[in-house]
Amino acid sequence: MKLFDVYPLQEVQIAQAAGSFVWDEHGQRYLDLYGGHAVISIGHTHPHYVARLNRQLGKIGFYSNSVKLSIQQELAELLGEVSGKKEFQLFLCNSGAEANENAMKLASFHTGRKKIIAFTGAFHGRTSLAVSATDNSSIIAPVNESNQVHFLPFNDVEALESWFAEEGSNTAAVLVEGIQGVGGIRVATDAFLQAIRRLCLASGAVFIADSVQCGYGRTGQFFSHDYSGVQADIYSVAKGMGNGFPVAGILIAPHIRPWHGMLGTTFGGNPLACAAALAVLEVIQEEQLMQQAAQTGSWLQAQLRSFPALEQVRGRGLMIGFDVPEHASLRNNLLYKHKIFTGAAKPQVIRLLPALNLKPEDAMLFLDAIRQELQLQKQAEQAY
Ligand SMILES: Cc1ncc(COP(=O)(O)O)c(C=O)c1O
Repeated sequence: MKLFDVYPLQEVQIAQAAGSFVWDEHGQRYLDLYGGHAVISIGHTHPHYVARLNRQLGKIGFYSNSVKLSIQQELAELLGEVSGKKEFQLFLCNSGAEANENAMKLASFHTGRKKIIAFTGAFHGRTSLAVSATDNSSIIAPVNESNQVHFLPFNDVEALESWFAEEGSNTAAVLVEGIQGVGGIRVATDAFLQAIRRLCLASGAVFIADSVQCGYGRTGQFFSHDYSGVQADIYSVAKGMGNGFPVAGILIAPHIRPWHGMLGTTFGGNPLACAAALAVLEVIQEEQLMQQAAQTGSWLQAQLRSFPALEQVRGRGLMIGFDVPEHASLRNNLLYKHKIFTGAAKPQVIRLLPALNLKPEDAMLFLDAIRQELQLQKQAEQAY
């Protein structure tokens, strides 16, 4: 059987990993500033993570949600503590799309309404409703087209106010990333997030903070929405939550009430996934990774701003983006010549999404590589 060929692949076969580095099958080392798409939060194969998963696997890997699994409660308590949302409720699932799908479904159950607001540039996943709320028509199959999702311009308070003046009482939810990731590291302004909070409160709509990519400490706060001083009604989390183990969830404000059968999943919240998520939170707490992400991130951003050829260096903590004119060639040279993985976004954005414990001396390898590449580009332009 062949693999269903949907991914454009880079010509590297990764065989091993530790911390912020991965090695290919020939033993060549690469610096990983992509984190497998913002997934690696505490570093590859962190010893505490490996030990906790192994221990759990030796006890029990899986049982379903038909019995009490005390490790779920243990996870809910630690997540409440580390995220600062102790009074929230946790529903566990398996992926970012599934988290957003459940968040929107829950908002609709709670309000009895159907309309969802999403924004230009948004990415919320590939399941039915999540993809309908994603601003990319090429990945929306005809069956996923929905006239219940309405897109408004990102960071436009006026457009939001006009919508709510007309349609507030029909709106179930507003779904927004604190920093758009796939959209190119676009930070939601404080005024915008505060307007969402105010308008949702006034109309009874649910404020859903998609924190799948920008959450879990990556920006230096647990949720990047925290920077704006707002509290959402639902937070969706995934990616960094399991450091590579598929685990996701939604954190739900206390005023949203559950009933038996309202949401469900077979695999969500299984003991092995909970052990992975607990190991991640324990390391975030023990090694103060949010503070590290804030410090290393602001230092790295300042370094990047010192290169005049890099335009609009932006982001928060270790969720960083910048624009480069010669995008494809720079990214390829970083990977194949300098052995450094970076992320990308359209049209010409380089995205950095490393582990939160990236060491400044390792980030220097990247800064040196960028310096060399920009110099070569300048020389080529002068020769031309
Ligand atoms: C902001 C955001 N939401 C949701 C998703 C979907 O997550 P998953 O691929 O785990 O379904 C992503 C994935 O990139 C994302 O960046």
